Amino acid sequence: MNSKKEHPCQQVSISEDSYTIIEKEQLAKRTICKMIIEAPLIARKARAGQFIILRVNETGERVPMTITEKDPAKGTITIYFQVVGKTTALMRNMKVGERFKDVVGPLGQPDEIEKIGKVVMVGGGTGTAVLYHITQAYRALDNYLVGIIGARDKDLIILQKEMGALCDELIVTTDDGSSGQKGLVTEALNNYLKTSHDVRLVWAIGPLAMMKAVSAITRPFQIKTMVSLNPIMVDGTGMCGCCRVTVGGKIRFACVDGPSFNGHLVDYDELLKRKGMYLNQERESLLFSVR
Ligand SMILES: Cc1cc2nc3c(=O)[nH]c(=O)nc-3n(C[C@H](O)[C@H](O)[C@H](O)COP(=O)(O)OP(=O)(O)OC[C@H]3O[C@@H](n4cnc5c(N)ncnc54)[C@H](O)[C@@H]3O)c2cc1C
Ligand code: FES
Repeated sequence: MNSKKEHPCQQVSISEDSYTIIEKEQLAKRTICKMIIEAPLIARKARAGQFIILRVNETGERVPMTITEKDPAKGTITIYFQVVGKTTALMRNMKVGERFKDVVGPLGQPDEIEKIGKVVMVGGGTGTAVLYHITQAYRALDNYLVGIIGARDKDLIILQKEMGALCDELIVTTDDGSSGQKGLVTEALNNYLKTSHDVRLVWAIGPLAMMKAVSAITRPFQIKTMVSLNPIMVDGTGMCGCCRVTVGGKIRFACVDGPSFNGHLVDYDELLKRKGMYLNQERESLLFSVR
């Protein structure tokens, strides 16, 4: 179990890695893209829960992305990204063999993974990609894993086969009932917790509203709940203050203190407000990029 926090400067690799795209796959009706990127130094150091910040080109925005998988032998890392704005749209158009301008990482605190017993891993949408590396780490310590993954419809579910291979039980939900149980992951979790009384820990990663709802469900059961937050980040090293979140009444910077936190202590409403701050600029930026 990792208990000592590292300063980000001790983790960061700014290297001669080429950051070449080795493989690319469009998933979920082209709304999500999987990319395998050459980054041997990051692949060697990355641990579950950590992320990178990349730039497409010299003038590009700095975009945080979770390391979903790493292959130190091949020197590659895998990211899954949802196309939501200018940079992710540019990334979707990049081809195998092209290179990112720069990639910094691994950033953030690695998660404290331990052998604890039954753990429920709840993933919503692209959140499942963030959850995957963490799920692998719990599997490696031989925990009993229950996966609950969901999306709006069956074509938007990602990593079902891979999560199925890691988990002892896997529940799939879709909002429209086109695959698995009809409904939200939160409903499936609530039903599961009512009948299973030996759950020691819940992980929830997905939209902020979903992580807030999961934390509200697990609170009366008194089950520790971890979430991975995705506030706006710029430098990723604790200097700019953009990723400020309130956890347990204290100010935390998600890039250096997180991105994972105890879900019962997060001030979700403040975070939801802060995330919406740049919506107009983001819309403008997307419009310019597609003109
Ligand atoms: C630690 C962390 C890990 C993440 N991992 C993933 C991942 O694995 N896969 C994935 O699809 N997305 C991930 N994200 C979110 C991803 O960084 C944003 O979707 C991306 O920056 C959007 O950029 P854009 O230019 O395409 O969209 P924009 O039009 O710039 O923004 C669209 C939305 O993306 C979010 N966003 C924009 N800029 C940032 C930023 N600098 N930091 C954080 N959020 C931003 C905002 O909610 C915004 O409303 C992660 C975010 C964080 C903080
Ligand atoms: S991204 Fe700047 S302080 Fe966290």
